[in-house]
Amino acid sequence: MTRSCKTTCPIDRARFLRTTALTALAGLGGSALLAEPALAQSVGTTAPAQSRGKVLTYALPAKEGVLIDAGNGVILARVKNTVYALSVICPHRATTTLEWLPDTREFHCPKHDALFQPDGELIDGRPDRAMDRYAVHRAGQSIAVDTAAVFQQDTAHDAWSRALVTIG
Ligand code: FES
Repeated sequence: MTRSCKTTCPIDRARFLRTTALTALAGLGGSALLAEPALAQSVGTTAPAQSRGKVLTYALPAKEGVLIDAGNGVILARVKNTVYALSVICPHRATTTLEWLPDTREFHCPKHDALFQPDGELIDGRPDRAMDRYAVHRAGQSIAVDTAAVFQQDTAHDAWSRALVTIG
């Protein structure tokens, strides 16, 4: 199965910059240039506001979508009122960086065409598990991500399932 990535599928830095430019353009009134501005704005970059060892603190995502911290390999995904911190690395071989497909709102592995939902659940492909999730907890209007505590769906299913923050 082959999926094209027509606009930006950013997780690597160069693609991030293009996405950021598109998102900024939409924010400056250039949304008419984008076929689907709502989807184009659902992806962006982020960086921790604070770092304490392996614990990174980010502002809670204000809207549904995906925010990617390429420097730390962390994806913040807000799906409705739930926020997950996902690893950018494909769980199949643990060497390939996943991409975001803005047109279908899925994560994609370019190595073997695996697809994942925004919450990390596997849709299709060779991996035998979902995307890995980091331990998270809410701290006021922030989310703390412990990058030393990464859970695999198959070996730590309960912890993986609880690795989320609900926004009221
Ligand atoms: S490395 Fe990602 S599906 Fe094989």
